[in-house]
Amino acid sequence: MEIIIKKDALEGSCAAARVVARLIHEKPNAVLGLATGSTPLLLYKELIRLHNEEGFDFSRVRTFNLDEYIGLSVDHEQSYRRFMNENLFEYINIKRENTHVPDGMAEDVPTACAAYEQAIADAGGIDLQVLGIGSDGHVGFNEPTSSFASRTRIKTLTRQTVADNARFFDGDESKVPHHCITMGIGTIMDARMNLMLAFGANKAEAVAATVEGPVASIMPASILQHHPAAKLFIDEAAASQLKLAEYYRWVYDGKPDWQKDA
Ligand code: GLP
Repeated sequence: MEIIIKKDALEGSCAAARVVARLIHEKPNAVLGLATGSTPLLLYKELIRLHNEEGFDFSRVRTFNLDEYIGLSVDHEQSYRRFMNENLFEYINIKRENTHVPDGMAEDVPTACAAYEQAIADAGGIDLQVLGIGSDGHVGFNEPTSSFASRTRIKTLTRQTVADNARFFDGDESKVPHHCITMGIGTIMDARMNLMLAFGANKAEAVAATVEGPVASIMPASILQHHPAAKLFIDEAAASQLKLAEYYRWVYDGKPDWQKDA
């Protein structure tokens, strides 16, 4: 895993955006895996800026989102489909039919999950997956003890995740759905590159366990240690519990510029 420590979330997000931009430049019809939550917002802002100011072209890009709450319709203000529309898709020239978010209103959830996996496969697989991390180490909504072999399926949120995400639901935990559809850890591990972002002191413990702890399903993100092309963009606060932080800085600072965005 490559650890990239930046001064703050803005610098980290811009560095991550350069990796996304380079991929799209090299492969205009790239397949992106996208995430929601507060973490990727600055990354999406930077992608929008690249589109507006530098004419960056998303017209052939295809996207698959990690997850969606079960029971929230696409127009619910906290649905992840609406989040993606309002924070990225409406501001770039992506074709809406090329964007995919699991259907939280699917009547037959297992069939919808299998179809989602098939759509990813039909698109040729995910080239680059954007990830955040939950304070309990979840990726997508793969909560602790999720199988490392899992595929897109229904999951139940932990009480901690319900509490963490209540801030998006007027601070009211009773409004947070308990179930979701999420890509599995196996799905995420199939992406050709994984790009995880984590900012703020409340992610420091999960980041340290992910990078320097044992690979264990109790800390789902730790599976990225087994991924051949995983990059972790973090700020100083999220890096504060890493034992080898100085080493990661030394490695990154010593890289030639062309390799930093690769
Ligand atoms: C949510 C999402 C994850 C996200 C995580 C962190 O529950 N399902 O994809 O990475 O929690 O959220 P945030 O970035 O707001 O801290």
